[in-house]
Amino acid sequence: MSTRRERGADGCADLVLVLPDAEQVCREARERFAGEARSAARERGTFRVALSGGSTPRRLYELLAELPAGEAPPAVPWSKVHFFWGDERLVPPDHEASNYRMAREALLSRLELAPEQVHRVPTELEPERCAQAYEQTLLRAFEGHVRFDLLLLGIGADGHTASLFPGSPALEERERLVAAVRAPGGGPDRVTLTLPAFETARCGFFLASGAEKAEAVRAALGGGDSPPPAGRVRLREGRLVWLLDRAAASRLPAPD
Ligand code: 6PG
Repeated sequence: MSTRRERGADGCADLVLVLPDAEQVCREARERFAGEARSAARERGTFRVALSGGSTPRRLYELLAELPAGEAPPAVPWSKVHFFWGDERLVPPDHEASNYRMAREALLSRLELAPEQVHRVPTELEPERCAQAYEQTLLRAFEGHVRFDLLLLGIGADGHTASLFPGSPALEERERLVAAVRAPGGGPDRVTLTLPAFETARCGFFLASGAEKAEAVRAALGGGDSPPPAGRVRLREGRLVWLLDRAAASRLPAPD
């Protein structure tokens, strides 16, 4: 059973869906992903999705890999899907921390894809060169106007999303679509899409599960004056859907 909360345009969410647990979050996300892919392929001949990293989406990717190729439900027109990343750690593609590696293991390696459908972040380059190169990849792939059909996003306990961390100068970037950033607390440097790269998207899914995300989700959806990075993602014309399990939604006010 899920609870739907529709919010006005002033909030950062068009729909907040609360599901019983993390597995149901991923199953709901799978159905929605497949529906977005089918309609994009039908209407525009392609479906361009920015994948999220971290641990939450792995199960979603595994579930997606089970879906057959095709145009009708429950299938996905996999031959028309192009995969990008919302952020990446500057490690080799076979490194355990690589978002590319996680997606390849859970999903991409289980599909029949042409190499040109997978737009990996060139992490072999120095951070700034990598950001510049990935921005060029986006501009080429979108023929100059970057507009993702779907963003998959997560949220950290500190409210970060992609690799947009609280207080990061990259949060204030209004021109560039990709920025090189340092991860707080050490760890590998990263590149991340910036808010301008996100805000043109047609659709975005935030996936969050677990009580450790509850405060960050509350802060992101609370509509306050200084939301954390995840709460600053706004889609100018797109639909932003938050898919939460009960634990991650536990600090939200009861639905009206
Ligand atoms: C990354 C992700 C990051 C992630 C959050 C939540 O590269 O780590 O892009 O933004 O979505 O940190 O991560 P979990 O799903 O592991 O909690």
